[in-house]
Amino acid sequence: MAGFRANHGILPHRYGRTEHLELYGKKAYRIGSQAFAPHNHMMNTGFQLPDGFLLLPGYFDRPAQEDLLYRVRKAVQAAPLYRPVMPRTGKPLSVRMSNFGPLGWITSKEGYRYAPHHPRTNKPWPPLPDCLAVLWDDVANWPDPPQACLINYYDEKARLGLHVDADEKAANAPIVSVSLGDQALFRLGGPRRNDPTRSLRLFSGDVVVLGGAARHCYHGVDRIYPNTSTLLSKGGRINLTMRVVGRNI
Ligand code: SIN
Ligand code: FE2
Repeated sequence: MAGFRANHGILPHRYGRTEHLELYGKKAYRIGSQAFAPHNHMMNTGFQLPDGFLLLPGYFDRPAQEDLLYRVRKAVQAAPLYRPVMPRTGKPLSVRMSNFGPLGWITSKEGYRYAPHHPRTNKPWPPLPDCLAVLWDDVANWPDPPQACLINYYDEKARLGLHVDADEKAANAPIVSVSLGDQALFRLGGPRRNDPTRSLRLFSGDVVVLGGAARHCYHGVDRIYPNTSTLLSKGGRINLTMRVVGRNI
């Protein structure tokens, strides 16, 4: 388990486990790595990163990304990507989804919830790959394991509007996210919808942790940058988000 003491930051590029890391406060980012695009610290100056926000650029190197992609491909053979619809309007999301783990996030007429079965096949979701469980133990700093890992697929036109993830009883457990494939413009705000926001480009292999105050902050994906990664042969972006749902779902 990583012993994070500082509570927010952007870490330099690295491979492997992070227990030796320190986090860097806002004034002391080390942004020297090739994996960290310079515009990430040029953009939106003056925005105070929320406590508990952590970006680990290039956490997964290319072979590890390929391995993870293989596991995602296997999972979506058994639990196909589908397009969830918004509860009230019935409007489909532009993101396609599936899930690993005992629970998966689904939409229904009643709203959003976690369920043990794929809504189309009615089969249990495929198990969480070990490398994601290891990532969780490394960066989440949380005693319970994740119960759900959403698999989001963004084609070049997909977006995810600003939202707060609030369907989990374990409301304070962090969310750990992994990006694979094309780059994305990720937007992070505050606890209120109209709080100021900061945009960050997420690259293939990057890990983001939304813990602490950041767990309750608005965030979304404004755009995908096509042809910015060779990982997915047909392009697009996969984002995996691990969550603890809580006991009484
Ligand atoms: C999410 O907010 O659920 C996904 C964020 C991302 O795709 O980076
Ligand atoms: Fe989210």
